[in-house]
Parts: sequence; C-alpha cells; structure tokens
Amino acid sequence: MSKSDDDNLRPATKLVQGGRRPEWTGDPRLGGSVVNPPVWRASTILYDNIADLEARGHATHDKLYYGRRGTPTVWALADALTGMEPGAAGTLLYPSGVAANSAGLLALLAPGDHLLMVDSAYEPTRAFCDGLLTRYGVTTTYYDPLIGAGIADLITPATKLIFLESPGSLTFEVQDIPAITRVARERGVLTMLDNTWATPLLFPALAHGVDVTMMSLTKYVGGHSDAMMGSLTATKAVWPRLRSAAYQLGQAVSPDDCALMLRGLRTLDVRMARHGENGLAVANWLAARPEVGRVLHPALPGDPGHAIWSRDFGGTSGLFGFTLKGADIAARARFIDALSLFGIGFSWGGYESLVVPGNPIRTATEWTDPDPLIRLSVGLEDPVDLIADLERGFAAL
Ligand SMILES: Cc1ncc(COP(=O)(O)O)c(C=O)c1O
Repeated sequence: MSKSDDDNLRPATKLVQGGRRPEWTGDPRLGGSVVNPPVWRASTILYDNIADLEARGHATHDKLYYGRRGTPTVWALADALTGMEPGAAGTLLYPSGVAANSAGLLALLAPGDHLLMVDSAYEPTRAFCDGLLTRYGVTTTYYDPLIGAGIADLITPATKLIFLESPGSLTFEVQDIPAITRVARERGVLTMLDNTWATPLLFPALAHGVDVTMMSLTKYVGGHSDAMMGSLTATKAVWPRLRSAAYQLGQAVSPDDCALMLRGLRTLDVRMARHGENGLAVANWLAARPEVGRVLHPALPGDPGHAIWSRDFGGTSGLFGFTLKGADIAARARFIDALSLFGIGFSWGGYESLVVPGNPIRTATEWTDPDPLIRLSVGLEDPVDLIADLERGFAAL
C-alpha cells in the first residue's frame, strides 16, 4: 500500500507519494529507506529452494518472479499511475505509447469483432487498425469525433470497443466522453481513451466512465524527451484481460526508463500548469495575428470544443494547433524553418518547445480547412521569447 492509494489525497499529492511503498524504498536490514524506489535491474530472480520457486510460479503482479514481470522500480511506476485514476484496478507498462495502444486493442478484440475508432486518432493508431487488426479479422468503423451520444447509431451486435482520443492530438476536437461512455455502458460496449494530452491530472478518465485509459508516457509524464513508454490503466472488470494479454505478448520495460518516468511524474503538476499557461499566452497572441486563420485550442473561449472542455477538463496542456490564412505548403515550410527556439521534431510534452506541420487524415469526416496547419508543443521557456521566435516565422512568410 502506498500513500497514493488514499483517494482522499489530491492529485498533486498523489504524484509525489505514488509508488513509494515502504517495501520498495526501504530495507529494515539497512536501517532506513530512500526517497525514490531504487533501480532494480533483473532478468533472473533467485529462489531459496524448489518449494519457493513453485509457490511463486503463481505469483501475483507485484512479486519477484522473472525479469519480464517487473521489479519494484516497474511496479512503483505502475502503482503511482494507478493511484492517479480513482476506480482503477491496475496499470500495465509498454515500451511505447503505440505499443500500449496496440496491446490494448489486441487484448480487448477478437476476430469477427467490430471497433469504433475516432476519426481524429493519432495516425499510427489508425495504421494499426487498418493493418494488423484487419488481418486479425477485426473491422473498424471510423466515427466523427463530435458524434457524442449519436455513437449509439453506429453500434452493431459485433461492436466490442469504442476508442476515443480527446482532444485529437493534431486537430484538437473535444469529444463528449461522458455521453459516449454512457451509451457504451448501456449497450455493453467497452471504451478505451488515449488520454496523453490531458493525463489523469487534467482528466481522470475512469471517473468519466472510460474502461481503459492509455497514455504515451513519452510525452508529459516523462517530460524531458529522453525516454519512451506507454501505459494502460483499467477498471477491475477489464484488468485481468489486459494483464493476461500483456503476459502473452511479453513486452517489458526497462527499470532505468521507469526511474526516469517516476522522476518526471513527481513534477507533472507544476510542469503541466506552466505548459498550459505558456501555451495559452502563445495561443492568444497567435489568435490576434492577421496571418492566422484559426487557433485550434479548446481552452480558448471561441473554440468549438470550449464548452465541453470547460465542463470536463481540469486545465490545459501546452499542445495545440493553428492555421496560416491563405498560405501554401511552401510558406508553411518557410515559417517553420525560420524558428529557432521551437525545434522541428515529433513527439511533444517535453520541457522544450517543438513545432511540426500537420496534415490531418480523415475517412469518416472531411477536413475542409484549406489553410495549412501547424502544431506547437509549448514548453517551459518564457513565452515572451517564444512569441519573438514566432514573429520571425511570420516575417519569413
Ligand atoms: C496522441 C498520441 N498517442 C500515442 C502516441 C504514441 O506514443 P509513443 O511515441 O510513445 O509511441 C503519440 C505520439 O506522438 C501521440 O501523439
């Protein structure tokens, strides 16, 4: 039991306390404990005798058994993430966010099943549905991110899972998650959410009716652009299926990376507040620029997703988009190439600002905006400097 199991504690406190169980941070023989769960590297676990080995063959998730099933460093991270989602039974860790998404979809779907996938999903999530999942005999229907309770009309007897991503990490539509999970529960369909943008700090997914919540820890949880990992956190009803599939798939994470993720997790609350604040400063400035078509940021009052975002989310991260009015692709490239504080690179959620061009892929809906899209991950630099950098981009148009 760690202190973060106490649901009376506030999220920021849980981030600090999570996973620091006495049995993972101290040893009575050493006469004390350390603050952070040490890095336990292991493949082989040694047993006292055959009786001990046989007894632990039926090990639960958090007993030393074999390296692939984790060590206290791994369990500490999983435990801390579980503590962030009231109602969660456990968390499984994967080598990347994509691995977590794929493992979750494989665990919850079987040949002949039907999946409802949000049209604004992260592109590799779509690629898995159109690729391996299709070969595995699962059919996917993409749906409008703004469908809300209308999802009911797309559910067939074969529908087993509805996948959500909100806001969409390139186009930032906000889904009506409570409306969708309500319909899903009535119809006996499971829901899975890519919650990387918000993290449980801004959106505790299980409390909003989601069955499985996924995060690319590579982004805000790690926060320092130096490690990759993904997580699935689930309700009691779904957890055994995920765990069994994870054991069969055999994906394991490194304890060194878990230590990096735990380090990031401790400061997630303060970093997220600053990412959100800096992002809004930049977004508001962009919104007033004549060269900008629109700013895609749900925390801006004029954004189409603002009402639902205000109702459901506890704050904003620093990832959003904007379009260049009447510009072409070459002008967008000139804009981006002129920036020096915004690095050109994939991923987001690190302490440093990043920029990428965005090219939305749609099949259920149409992306009608003709203006080229740019996505910014606003970091922890002073927004005054970031705005000066963006000025350089506009000067290069
Ligand atoms: C919304 C979203 N989900 C999942 C992922 C995949 O995470 P990873 O890069 O850790 O595989 C990403 C990565 O960019 C993402 O943006």
